[in-house]
Amino acid sequence: MSETVDLSHGATFEHGFPHEFFKKLRDERPIYWHEPTQYSPGGEGFWVISRYEDCVRAMRDPATFSSDKVPPRKGGGTSLFDEPYAGLAMNTADDPQHKRLRGLVSQGFTPRAIADMETDLRRRAKSILGKISNPECFEFMSEVARELPLQAICTILGVPEEDRVQLSDWIDHGLMVQSEGVISREYLLLIQDYGKKLIEQKRQNPANDILSAIIHARTDDPQEAPLTPLELVNFFLLLFPAGAETTRSAIGGAMLAFIENPDQLAKLRAHPELMPNAVEEIVRWTTPSIYKRRTATCDTEIAGGKVKAGQKLSYWEISANRDERMFKDPFKFDIARDPNPHVGFGTGIHICLGIALARMEIKIMFEEILARFQNFELLAPPLWMPNNRLHGVRELKLRMS
Ligand code: HEM
Repeated sequence: MSETVDLSHGATFEHGFPHEFFKKLRDERPIYWHEPTQYSPGGEGFWVISRYEDCVRAMRDPATFSSDKVPPRKGGGTSLFDEPYAGLAMNTADDPQHKRLRGLVSQGFTPRAIADMETDLRRRAKSILGKISNPECFEFMSEVARELPLQAICTILGVPEEDRVQLSDWIDHGLMVQSEGVISREYLLLIQDYGKKLIEQKRQNPANDILSAIIHARTDDPQEAPLTPLELVNFFLLLFPAGAETTRSAIGGAMLAFIENPDQLAKLRAHPELMPNAVEEIVRWTTPSIYKRRTATCDTEIAGGKVKAGQKLSYWEISANRDERMFKDPFKFDIARDPNPHVGFGTGIHICLGIALARMEIKIMFEEILARFQNFELLAPPLWMPNNRLHGVRELKLRMS
């Protein structure tokens, strides 16, 4: 490629996702070796996979493309940084450990428990919109988009109301700082420390929340150990970037897409029955969790190229979701798109655990926004998060009336 883009540098994403570069990759280099740069974790290069078919293949073959540590590496995981704690949270574990963790967590995270949150989330959504400081001129991401997802995760984790703003500030700051991990170390430690204390409290005094159910979860198999304190803290840590930041980006990115495509907004208003399709299109369009890394467990071939055992491979769901080979007019935001086989929630054994919750939050938020406001206007160009993993709108100045 004559023109290269540093995909390991957060600043590359400061002006939005480099779609043109990825279109070139999909057309000309479906497997592309990214040379290391000063920003590449471990000073290491990595493979880049960009076509839908190849991304799906990597996701559905965890035996070849591991989410955990692959010896002799001391770290692994799903971002380019070699996470030493890989294997302790379900998203960075392979089976059978992944199966055990997901099985235990799913005991608290039941479809019933999630459905039961709907009334509370709708009440919260109404209150968030009612509290906008000045609808004539305000920042949508901080006042609206981040709120409901954060409240949902805090409810799952039983975080007291008075601690919620502090926690979300740590997460926001952690994402803003350029660092090797998804959230910078300094803020990660603050959140981790808070999580440890909360887990200990709930171990002693179980409450009526999903975290308490997970802490006390056991399987029928007496050989299978309950979650250890470290595994619990890692679950706690996982949910903020995995569940809150992603949904916030989906809501913010959707707002921007509706303003830029007023015909689609009008269509949704006229046809509220299209909401489920609109939600899927929002996730395809925004793809808030834009890439994943895996580590090859053996020499293999993918996308017509050879990958060596131990090498890092990144696959880009946001590129898969814009692949012309799979989607008709992929750069059109079409709320009636059907079918819409996007991979915004992943696929295979690691498919998002929070799909039902994420869909519900996006649906509630836009139902309530449409019920309360008629007009939406962008007051300044959007600002984007300088982060290559959790990419999305950082600031959106709006007028809503
Ligand atoms: C629009 C919002 C969301 C998007 C785009 C999204 C996306 C994803 C993706 C792509 C994965 C696969 C990770 C991998 O293969 O390495 C994933 C996994 C996961 N997500 Fe989500 N997610 C969203 C919302 C949520 C919510 C609301 C929660 C929880 C409350 C959640 C919890 C998780 C967990 C625990 C995993 C790990 C599952 C496993 O490894 O088995 N996500 N998500």
